[in-house]
Amino acid sequence: MKKDLLSIKDLKIEEIEHIFSLTDDLKAKVKDFSSALSEKCLGLIFLKPSLRTRVSFEAGMAHLGGSTFYLSPEDIKFGTREAVKDIGSVLSRYLNVLVIRTFSQKQLVELAQFCAIPVINGLTDLFHPCQALSDLYTIKEKKGNLKNAKISFIGDGNNVVHSLLYGCAKLGINLNVATPKNHRPKDEIVKEAINIAQKKGADIYLSQDPREVAQEADVIYTDVWTSMGQESECKIRAKDFAGFQINQGLVSLAKKDCLIMHCLPAHRGEEIADDVIDGPNSIVFDQAENRMHVQKAILLHLVGSF
Ligand code: CP
Ligand code: NVA
Repeated sequence: MKKDLLSIKDLKIEEIEHIFSLTDDLKAKVKDFSSALSEKCLGLIFLKPSLRTRVSFEAGMAHLGGSTFYLSPEDIKFGTREAVKDIGSVLSRYLNVLVIRTFSQKQLVELAQFCAIPVINGLTDLFHPCQALSDLYTIKEKKGNLKNAKISFIGDGNNVVHSLLYGCAKLGINLNVATPKNHRPKDEIVKEAINIAQKKGADIYLSQDPREVAQEADVIYTDVWTSMGQESECKIRAKDFAGFQINQGLVSLAKKDCLIMHCLPAHRGEEIADDVIDGPNSIVFDQAENRMHVQKAILLHLVGSF
């Protein structure tokens, strides 16, 4: 049966560990993967802009010997030119795997239901699983054992946080999230993540005080205050997030070797100061690079039965 990646919630812990171990193998070049996905075709449907997700999937698929087809909203007029179920049925006859970036998670789930091939969530308003998996891989790569690490996300309770919540909970990693009161992550996701984390002996902690979670942190992670699709709220959000900028003042509260993370694109001077994102503890570009390695592992797992 085909397997999708729509949310980290659907992944078994063993699958996450397997993806991470495959990523280690890919990065260490333990064997030749250059024809692992030869004759396999990946479709990329993007209804929102992308730099990292699109290019990392295209480059990754090329490294594995496969081909990619980028489908812009203008090409296929997703959801208006023909029924989503017909798009899924047709693409399943040509392709072996599909990545889609769209607005609603519901639309992604609907498409996946009508696809006979694996569907990968390339970001929705609710989740960004490829991002969070790569981020957790990156943190493990840099820090090793994460059991007692203090990982703090400071900013908007958005799609990236929702996926980090499930990822940290499943892997038993403590996660602190500081957001303004009216920008908390969704209650049902927080509740579920807390339930999963408790069974693993890990803590999920929500706060409205960036200074509290920055204190003695091993990792500080942030993302834009206005996500794609929320542009009309940009001004009001800038006010809501006053005091949430990751700057030297906030970073000085953390451990000296605290890693600075951002999924990018960054709005420099808003959620993160230039001297922090460009500073010696910033790992944002290693984080971006790992998107490609982890997604190659995801493709091998879902398409190549590795
Ligand atoms: N982080 C991320 O997904 O970047 P893009 O929006 O550029 O794909
Ligand atoms: N939260 C951001 C992530 C971009 C990769 C957005 O959805 O725009």
